[in-house]
Amino acid sequence: MDIFEDKVILVTGANRGIGRALVKALLNHGVRKIYATCRDLNTMPSLDDDRITVLSLDITNDEQITTVAVLAQDTEILINNAGVINAGNILEGDLEGMDNDMSVNYFGTIKMMRAFAPILKKNNPSKIINIVSIAAYSPLPSIAGYAASKAALFSATQSVRIELAKEGIAVYAINPGAIDTDMNKGSDWDMPDPESTAVKILEYVADGKFDIVPDEMGQGMYNAWREDPAKLSKIFSDLYYGEISE
Ligand SMILES: NC(=O)c1ccc[n+]([C@@H]2O[C@H](COP(=O)([O-])OP(=O)(O)OC[C@H]3O[C@@H](n4cnc5c(N)ncnc54)[C@H](OP(=O)(O)O)[C@@H]3O)[C@@H](O)[C@H]2O)c1
Repeated sequence: MDIFEDKVILVTGANRGIGRALVKALLNHGVRKIYATCRDLNTMPSLDDDRITVLSLDITNDEQITTVAVLAQDTEILINNAGVINAGNILEGDLEGMDNDMSVNYFGTIKMMRAFAPILKKNNPSKIINIVSIAAYSPLPSIAGYAASKAALFSATQSVRIELAKEGIAVYAINPGAIDTDMNKGSDWDMPDPESTAVKILEYVADGKFDIVPDEMGQGMYNAWREDPAKLSKIFSDLYYGEISE
């Protein structure tokens, strides 16, 4: 039995990158309905599948969240994918950018979980799948605000996992390494594409894993962290000094 079969799923940031790839991958799992949400409906690619309902949603906008929650009362799986990245280190980085990382990645995702928890309780067994980042385990200083927002989101995800454990709602944290999306535009790293990453994410969720690192690079980083957190810190230190000496 495919755990996604016949399910109603809402994906944030579904117009591009990992969000869009998740929508495409889910369509191959026999889902009943996907609420594909994004900020600007003009940027939503057509997928020509009548199981998709497109909705406008900025996850920092309380009114839009309420509207979407009213429209999507049958949601059984909430995928919080929307996210932003602002470059900059802690000592010199743009504070407004850091504030934006926190308001989208952390508070925006929390607002979505708050709005949908009652719906998911009503429709249980259900799931929340949060796309976090390997940077939640250890910061890369050139994206320090992003790393802090993802560490905060990872913590919130683990809190909510406990808060909802007795409500029939399973809560997953997805912590990818670097994936080849607009977020890494200009990088010359060898990265997996969002399509194969989305397929892996769904596979790991179906396997019943709750903390998921879907890609090889991320898994290498995660294994280093598991051996000794200082090892991942050293990887990011080397990357940081490599970047600033370029
Ligand atoms: N790519 C990676 O290496 C990587 C690694 C680890 C984790 N992640 C995480 O994966 C998720 C998807 O990122 P991606 O790599 O697919 O990047 P992406 O291609 O830049 O996509 C980001 C998505 O988030 C949406 N978004 C941004 N702010 C939003 C808001 N306030 N409300 C609603 N949607 C908003 C964007 O919509 P617009 O088109 O309107 O901007 C876009 O759909 C993010 O949470 C990211 O942090 C990515």
